[in-house]
Amino acid sequence: MKIRLFFLLCLIAVSAVLSANEKTVIPITTDNISLIYKVNDSNGRLYQSYLGQKLSFDSDIAQLPLGNEAYLTHGMEDYFEPAIRVLHNDGNPSLLLKYVSHESKQLSGANETVITLKDDKYPVEVKLYFIAYPKENIIKEYAEISHQEKKPVTLYNYASSLLHLNSDKYFLTEFSGDWAHEVNMKESELAFGKKMLDTKLGSRANMFCSPFFLLALDRKAEENAGEVLFGTIGWTGNYRFTFEVDNENSLRILSGINPYASEYSLKPNEVFRTPEFIFTYSAEGKGKASRDFQRWARKYQLKDGEKSRMTLLNNWEATYFDFNEDKLVAIMDEAATLGVDMFLLDDGWFANKYPRSSDHQGLGDWQETVTKLPNGIGKLVKEATNKGIKFGLWIEPEMVNPKSELYEKHKDWVIHLPNRDEYYFRNQMVLDLSNPEVQDYVYSIVDGLMTKYPGIAYFKWDCNSPITNIYSPYLKNQQSHLYIEHVRGLYNVLERIKQKYPNLPMMLCSGGGGRCDYEALKYFTEFWPSDNTEPVERIFIQWGYSHFFPAKSMAAHVTSWGKQPVKFRTDVASMCKLGFDIRINEMGQADQQYCKEAVANFKRLSDVILDGDQYRLASPYESEHAAVMYANESANKAVLFAFDMYPRYAEMMQPLRLQGLKKDARYELKEINLIPGTKSRLECNGRTFSGEFLMNVGIPVFSSRPTNSHVIEITEVR
Ligand code: DGJ
Repeated sequence: MKIRLFFLLCLIAVSAVLSANEKTVIPITTDNISLIYKVNDSNGRLYQSYLGQKLSFDSDIAQLPLGNEAYLTHGMEDYFEPAIRVLHNDGNPSLLLKYVSHESKQLSGANETVITLKDDKYPVEVKLYFIAYPKENIIKEYAEISHQEKKPVTLYNYASSLLHLNSDKYFLTEFSGDWAHEVNMKESELAFGKKMLDTKLGSRANMFCSPFFLLALDRKAEENAGEVLFGTIGWTGNYRFTFEVDNENSLRILSGINPYASEYSLKPNEVFRTPEFIFTYSAEGKGKASRDFQRWARKYQLKDGEKSRMTLLNNWEATYFDFNEDKLVAIMDEAATLGVDMFLLDDGWFANKYPRSSDHQGLGDWQETVTKLPNGIGKLVKEATNKGIKFGLWIEPEMVNPKSELYEKHKDWVIHLPNRDEYYFRNQMVLDLSNPEVQDYVYSIVDGLMTKYPGIAYFKWDCNSPITNIYSPYLKNQQSHLYIEHVRGLYNVLERIKQKYPNLPMMLCSGGGGRCDYEALKYFTEFWPSDNTEPVERIFIQWGYSHFFPAKSMAAHVTSWGKQPVKFRTDVASMCKLGFDIRINEMGQADQQYCKEAVANFKRLSDVILDGDQYRLASPYESEHAAVMYANESANKAVLFAFDMYPRYAEMMQPLRLQGLKKDARYELKEINLIPGTKSRLECNGRTFSGEFLMNVGIPVFSSRPTNSHVIEITEVR
């Protein structure tokens, strides 16, 4: 006890000395979070003094200890991973950053703070940007690095963000896996040393590990309690998160582009802008952090985040490469009868010298295969229009099959090692987007199609290969820039498309789950979370992504993957952006009718499901059941999805407590999405309860029937 008191007194004494030296305090705040920087006037350096629940009183903030250096450099007195490492013209490898100034300004819906730091021996400048969204409790952070040395300096490390946390224990949840097995949530305690989450795949970068994490302080992450930090990086390429627990049990989180094989030679006056690290902190567990992320994404980041989405029928799993015009027109009829908004033509419609009859050839030759589609895309657009639906088209414009005319003509556009055998992933290679000519070509695929067929209402933009054979014929002796320039090239293309076709919705698809970052999602209205559409797997996959992404950003299709009842498959898909990828006519009458009603229900309730607040009520990771609910802003309408996966016999089940309702309001519960001719088995169906009852007592919705589901519409009654 005496020792504790002694330390406390020392801490107060040290803080007092420090605060006397800290005249400059830079608070970055949202409604619930404070991130506070201070300048130590005795050495001019910038420190992160605090990150956590909002501090409202300046007098308290003044008493905070100085903390840890904000953007640690290599070569000085810190012994852990630096945020930045540079090599100067004279061979000196060190950097010492001192505070110069800071300024703040109002952006729409956010406040921006820029802190400028400079080395006093070398003309190197780092600007740290913070964009704080008060209501959504989201902070974006990035850095700009520049210099005025005579020749280029080499950047070896260039983090977007360095955050310091202090706690007894740290629990990291990663979202990793593989193709068709994405975002498996694994939580582990961090001990001394480093844990890295990264990718080196170049493109299809998130195939093994998604670009986000969550970090719980003191105890394992909980849904509705406890302190958690959620972070994600907006970079459609190699990223790295480094979590390092140091000798004082402090945690440093470094986020940014993966510097692996990517030393960057920065010319004088060129500005190296890092991608945005986007984070939130919640003292009320994971649920609140997710809702903040989802709300922010809809409002500020996701393309057309506040607009509606189209339901669709896709032909991929219904036909694979085996189709012709007649078959497609027949599927369009099914789409129209089903009541979806659009028919989406997938892979297999293009190339003539090497027709795209399998994934071995044709990629790169974006002309309709005349033997399959003698009347071209134009005829299909017309057919769709006549049936009262829209037409969407699949492309994979960044890639090439070696068996293609494009490869024969333009091998210099392909990333490949000049003197080695080629290695293929899905029989294809990646085009060199660092080359502006290739950027023009990729842009012209979309622009050409849109010019010829302005009726195309949607693109599914696929990307099935990581970068293999890493060498850019264009970059020549600057190969270490390739991973970065490739991503920048992609953004140039996407920006041009967005400028010319601002209202064109597009799906970000990358073999399923290979791309899901918030920078790409500025250009895409939704992404394809996984090729795995087996509904039990999908419950886990959608659950995982929901930590960062709103329901409307996740395309979810009903397919034949899995032998579960079509109701179960459709109910799972109805939790996100609903689509179908199946022959509707091959189903029985009752199932077909059920699907039609489910589409109509989804459309009727899409403002709640796609734009409402999401509450994860029962985790599939914790039992054989799962439940998710959505409530609109005024909490007068909600939709509950409840699933039994593979329950044990005679399992004991508790009523499910709802969230997000008004305590005093009365709600009527109605089970929807029932197979025609069947009745609800739920006792609560048709009854009215107060919000208080629903949230404190709950309703029995789970059963021991395998692959069973319920969708309940909850409506306030007056
Ligand atoms: C991978 C995608 O994830 C699938 O949905 C489908 O579009 C195929 N590519 C087509 O090759």
